[in-house]
Amino acid sequence: MQGETMRAKKNADHGVGATYRLELGAGGGLVGLAVALGCGVESRLMLTDQNEMLELMKHNIALNNVDNKATASILNWGEPLPQEVVDYKPNVILAGECVYFEPAFPLLMQTLKDLLALNPDAVIFFCFKKRRRADMQFVKMARKAFTVEEIFDQDRPVFSRQSLFLFTFTTKRNKATAASSNQSKPHPSRS
Ligand SMILES: C[S@@+](CC[C@H](N)C(=O)[O-])C[C@H]1O[C@@H](n2cnc3c(N)ncnc32)[C@H](O)[C@@H]1O
Repeated sequence: MQGETMRAKKNADHGVGATYRLELGAGGGLVGLAVALGCGVESRLMLTDQNEMLELMKHNIALNNVDNKATASILNWGEPLPQEVVDYKPNVILAGECVYFEPAFPLLMQTLKDLLALNPDAVIFFCFKKRRRADMQFVKMARKAFTVEEIFDQDRPVFSRQSLFLFTFTTKRNKATAASSNQSKPHPSRS
């Protein structure tokens, strides 16, 4: 997981300008905090999870001295995005180990769709260890909704042997939409 985290960070950092990261199902926030600690001052982080994890996320933000760049919020998959997430408009979304519970798949899928609808230029970094055949069903569902790419680098064979996967999910586009979207648009709350 640590290697996947660092690779997600490396890839996320390829973006230009300020990065507004949001982690889904953050738990204690390990993935997001590792990324926040390794990134420049321009990067912001919003850890999200269910209410039960809110205090732990806040505690870990304080413990890692990143109160100046990270916040914690409740985001229940499948529910409308909270206003603070809509205002934040993340452009990098991290989801680590979020496919462990099959009944939650449609809820998670809805939230991923909502986030890409909110910001069609956002990139979702989606990483998990395959434990059941059903885990790949989620990727199959994702391929119908998004452009799905598996990230390959020199560490891939090692992670493959451990059944670890890292994908990016982005908005499906035709060529005309992609061309117009490439003309950079300022973030409403950042210009
Ligand atoms: C297996 S843990 C992964 C935690 C963390 N991402 C990591 O890799 O260490 C899955 C997380 O998803 C969260 N989760 C499960 N169902 C959820 C839902 N419906 N809405 C929001 N978060 C949910 C859980 O609270 C839990 O923290």
